[in-house]
Amino acid sequence: MTRSFLRDDDLAPDELITVLDLAAKLKADPYAAKPLAGPQTVATIYDKPTLRTQTSFAAGIAELGGHPMLVDGSLAGIGRRESIADVARVLGRQASVIVWRTYAQGRLEEMAAYAGVPVVNALTDDFHPCQLLADLLTVREHKGRLAGLRVAFVGDGACNMGNSWLLAGALAGMDVVIGAPAGYAPESVMFDRANEIGAATGGSATWTTDAIEAVEGADVVVTDTWVSMGREDEAKARLAVFSPYGVTEELLGHAKPDAIVMHCLPAYRGKEIAASVIDGPRSVVWDEAENRRHAQKAILAFLVQESGTP
Ligand code: NVA
Repeated sequence: MTRSFLRDDDLAPDELITVLDLAAKLKADPYAAKPLAGPQTVATIYDKPTLRTQTSFAAGIAELGGHPMLVDGSLAGIGRRESIADVARVLGRQASVIVWRTYAQGRLEEMAAYAGVPVVNALTDDFHPCQLLADLLTVREHKGRLAGLRVAFVGDGACNMGNSWLLAGALAGMDVVIGAPAGYAPESVMFDRANEIGAATGGSATWTTDAIEAVEGADVVVTDTWVSMGREDEAKARLAVFSPYGVTEELLGHAKPDAIVMHCLPAYRGKEIAASVIDGPRSVVWDEAENRRHAQKAILAFLVQESGTP
């Protein structure tokens, strides 16, 4: 059966740990696993801006012994010049895995339905599961565990990162609290799914509009841009709504004294995070950025192995 990674809960809780363990192994020894050895090719397509994702996939695929094939989505005209289904059928004949950053989650689902090879979500409007693999690896490195930790996600909860933290946090048995203004929390279906997962893992997902309440006693404080890619038209209104939700030294004072601070980047200093916080001693953002490579190598190796991809 072909396994794809379209959203965080495409992995079972035990599979998540397997992938994180492999990522840690690959970080210690980058050439330990070469499941993509030989002529295997991974198609990578970016419909939105990218720095970390494109470079970490390219470097990681090369380290696995595979070839990253950059497909220009606008030249291909995916969904315009050719249907997503036809593009999927063609790419599935050329590549062992398809990695795609795009807008609607439905586009990615359609690609996966027709490709016949694993498809990996490199960020959609709804989820950013590769970032969460890197983030959980980073938390585990700094805290030594995941289950039972309290995570405060402060700011725009109604974006890919908010949704992914709810699901991945629940899989890992963490208690995730979203601190977001009304209208900017994840949809209730996300909380329901996270709490359904959490019933088995011990995790939980909750929301408050009070940033201080969210951060109170947190082990991990997370934020993200207030203006996600594709939302640029709303920038002015968003900056006004989110201004009480910036991760400042003062807000961080409500977290545990040894709390770490995370941000998937790009960061806007003085907006969602103070410069002194992101550049300060509790920030682990550069570890997160590095861990994208190790985590993505692990999920690629896992999917190829599970799918028996030639
Ligand atoms: N929520 C952000 C994440 C960037 C990596 C966005 O979608 O732009």
